[in-house]
Amino acid sequence: MTGNDTATDGATTEGVRIDTSKPHPARMYDWFLGGKDNYPVDEEMARQLLTIDARGRDMARVNRAFMHRATRWLGKAGVRQYLDIGTGIPTEPNLHQIAQQVAPESRIVYCDNDPIVLAHAEALLRSTPEGATSYIQADARDPQTILERAGDVLDFAQPIALSMLALLHFVDDEDGAYELVARLVERLAPGSYLVLSHVTGEFDPEGAAKARAMYQGRGLTLRPRTREELTRFFDGLELVEPGVTLTAEWHPELGEPVPVAGDAPIPGYAGVARKP
Ligand SMILES: C[S@@+](CC[C@H](N)C(=O)[O-])C[C@H]1O[C@@H](n2cnc3c(N)ncnc32)[C@H](O)[C@@H]1O
Repeated sequence: MTGNDTATDGATTEGVRIDTSKPHPARMYDWFLGGKDNYPVDEEMARQLLTIDARGRDMARVNRAFMHRATRWLGKAGVRQYLDIGTGIPTEPNLHQIAQQVAPESRIVYCDNDPIVLAHAEALLRSTPEGATSYIQADARDPQTILERAGDVLDFAQPIALSMLALLHFVDDEDGAYELVARLVERLAPGSYLVLSHVTGEFDPEGAAKARAMYQGRGLTLRPRTREELTRFFDGLELVEPGVTLTAEWHPELGEPVPVAGDAPIPGYAGVARKP
């Protein structure tokens, strides 16, 4: 990663101050995906996570592929508006590129709280002329701000697909994970969708506890959830087939298979549900 200016505790990228003194989830995820927008501190922690489960890169790619398939599914279901919270560092194809391949008039609002995503947001804003894209720098735990600002681009009287992909495991129950989802869903029109993917510790509780402690040690939150706990986020909504599944098993026919190491499940769940 290169910035205009680097220091021991930070770097700037196009005027955005980046904290390089501790790892950030967006930058670790970028490292797992083979990107260049990460720092030694991110790589160091990502490599430590690989000592718990060597398939960190597979997890990131499987999750990304779910985003591609779910967005295709939503576009085909007629969705033309998207609110994607916890967007991550742009990695092509981004959600808007898939949505606008299906329907060029699609309107997309992205949101993340990491300044490095802001520094690269330009890549998220290359909309088709018929559609629109926009980026909000905000915290998912502040749904009011997100809703207000998203209203500049999205029509909340019409259906919206709200996606939070590989995001909610960074928000603990005590920090209002369920409440923030409920608050956002409450504002969506009937016919809207909630799209979630999430890390689980169900297949390796000991490893998950170690990873949680590793995050905690760096002042970060990791809250793996069970399939049942993820399903609770969809309360009051109608899960579309096949329900909450292993991330890789949600409509695999809508994308290319993602080759992964071994036969054990990649530990993440995903689902899509419709607001009645
Ligand atoms: C693992 S990445 C997932 C990126 C993308 N959604 C995907 O699935 O490919 C998680 C993203 O969530 C963001 N994030 C974590 N906590 C957040 C919060 N409280 N508010 C907004 N974004 C957050 C991180 O900055 C990071 O970009």
